[in-house]
Amino acid sequence: MRAAPQLVLLLAVAVALAVASDEETTQEDSSTRPTVNSVDEETTTSKSVATHSGTGRRGRVTCYFESWAVYRKRSRYGIEDIPGDMCTHIIYSFVGLNNQTWELQVLDEKLDVVDGGFENFTALRQEFPGVRLQVALGGWAEGGHNYSTMVGHPARRASLVRSVVAFLHRYGFDGFDVDWEYPGNAPRGGVPEDKDDFLCLMQELRAAFDAEGLGWELTMAVPLTEDKLRDGFHVPHLCSIVDAVHVMAYDLRGEWDHFADAHSPLYRRPHDTGAYAKINTHDGLLLWEQMGCPADKLVVGVPFYGHAYKLCANVSDYSPGACIVPCTKNDVCGMSYYQICNEIQNVGDWTVKWDKYGMVPYAYKGRTWVGYENPHSLQIKMNFIKNKGYAGAMMWAVDEDDFQGLCGEPNPLLSVLHNNMKEYVVPESKKTNTVESDMTLELNCKRIRQQPVFPQKGSPDVFDSTVNETLQTLRPNATEKHNEQINTSTT
Ligand SMILES: *[C@@H]1O[C@H](CO)[C@@H](O)[C@H](O)[C@H]1NC(C)=O
Ligand SMILES: *[C@@H]1O[C@H](CO)[C@@H](O)[C@H](O)[C@H]1NC(C)=O
Ligand SMILES: *[C@@H]1O[C@H](CO)[C@@H](O)[C@H](O)[C@H]1NC(C)=O
Ligand SMILES: *[C@@H]1O[C@H](CO)[C@@H](O)[C@H](O)[C@H]1NC(C)=O
Ligand SMILES: *[C@@H]1O[C@H](CO)[C@@H](O)[C@H](O)[C@H]1NC(C)=O
Ligand SMILES: *[C@@H]1O[C@H](CO)[C@@H](O)[C@H](O)[C@H]1NC(C)=O
Ligand SMILES: *[C@@H]1O[C@H](CO)[C@@H](O)[C@H](O)[C@H]1NC(C)=O
Repeated sequence: MRAAPQLVLLLAVAVALAVASDEETTQEDSSTRPTVNSVDEETTTSKSVATHSGTGRRGRVTCYFESWAVYRKRSRYGIEDIPGDMCTHIIYSFVGLNNQTWELQVLDEKLDVVDGGFENFTALRQEFPGVRLQVALGGWAEGGHNYSTMVGHPARRASLVRSVVAFLHRYGFDGFDVDWEYPGNAPRGGVPEDKDDFLCLMQELRAAFDAEGLGWELTMAVPLTEDKLRDGFHVPHLCSIVDAVHVMAYDLRGEWDHFADAHSPLYRRPHDTGAYAKINTHDGLLLWEQMGCPADKLVVGVPFYGHAYKLCANVSDYSPGACIVPCTKNDVCGMSYYQICNEIQNVGDWTVKWDKYGMVPYAYKGRTWVGYENPHSLQIKMNFIKNKGYAGAMMWAVDEDDFQGLCGEPNPLLSVLHNNMKEYVVPESKKTNTVESDMTLELNCKRIRQQPVFPQKGSPDVFDSTVNETLQTLRPNATEKHNEQINTSTT
């Protein structure tokens, strides 16, 4: 824990107070929160499908696929298990970056190439014509350092861009998702220059893809906190060149926060104070819009897994914020939805509760506590997407749904996304608030980076979002993307 002990205590008190008295919140009146099937009435950004001419595009359902799910023993999931008719886009995760040649690098040669992973994946096109088959570069496990080292040099970027184009041709992918976590983020090996250089890279990828004339899409997976956006993303410029922005609205709380909580709350809860206040799906998406990204480019990410915790032995109040002890190898620390629903429905003895502010479920049994999503909470998020005029939904990851039908019909979560997005036409975004001058930017993509410059420690407006690498060892193959750690001491 990085925060000073007294601040941890303050936070704990704040949580306890909030939990003790749901009504005494100084935030927006929660009774006006939308419930299922009601309209989000927030006036500042509300968009109605009816009052806008459509883009003609239907809502996206972007399905990230964890190629390593094939190694799971009891719940093996291969390419052949992907229900491609319920996705508009499927993204094979991941490929990496070679830091000697600065070319795209295959991460699991045997699976991806020798055993035909890439080829089988793009062959899904025959079974599911019309679905876009993309590949993602990066991910949590790849770290950020190699990317930062690459983007500062025009020749290295050119090498990557060339290799990506060759790779997409070779295996027949028709899109590319950049998942660098995160440009400009010092705890992840980034430097301030990344912000400009990342935009150079994206512009160069866009130009190269357009030159091929095959309609390849360029997308990116992005965080939603103010510090990360400010440090690494020229938001209006990036949004103007990518086809879609995949906002990772999950892992927003975790063991690194040292209390049990839901990790994809839709709205701010009473106990979300200080640095936590805006770290929720609604406020994170709003931030992207406020920083100049049109709503019709924003794809809202939802998790198909839960964060599980081991509670302190003396816990009597199981509300979000409950005391936890570190999860060890013998405890359950992460759970896919297929495990959660099976536990709750078939194993039994779980108490299932509802976070009425965050609009997500949580459940506990003995000393295990898990925050997750279910069909009900996802229906609320789909209503939110449609009411806001966003581009669609994406999930991490498609293979974590109840694909075997252990709890009923197979793929209950993906079905919610599919059923909602299939008849939703994305409205054309109003002009964003971005003033024209925000778009003018002196970008020198010919510059070669000299010495890396590290940010001043303790800059007052910097939320230091540090990374707890130990999380990797707890859930090595499923938390590879995106984990936010919040410095609770900052506000
Ligand atoms: C990271 O997490 C581990 C396991 O929960 C914990 O022991 C450690 O103190 C954490 N480190 C930081 C820097 O918070
Ligand atoms: C995080 O909090 C600790 C404890 O207050 C502080 O020492 C540290 O500087 C903070 N990180 C940053 C860089 O804001
Ligand atoms: C950086 O690139 C090198 C060489 O391609 C690779 O071995 C290494 O794993 C990469 N770093 C990370 C953190 O993945
Ligand atoms: C390449 O990656 C390795 C492993 O992460 C690292 O030790 C090395 O410094 C990197 N080289 C460059 C040029 O960044
Ligand atoms: C690819 O498909 C072939 C033929 O069905 C199969 O033998 C092979 O195991 C598949 N490989 C992967 C990685 O899915
Ligand atoms: C409960 O146990 C934790 C450690 O497991 C301790 O830090 C905390 O103070 C205890 N709370 C109470 C109310 O006794
Ligand atoms: C993680 O994935 C690798 C292959 O990428 C596999 O060898 C390993 O067994 C997996 N680990 C777990 C815990 O599933």
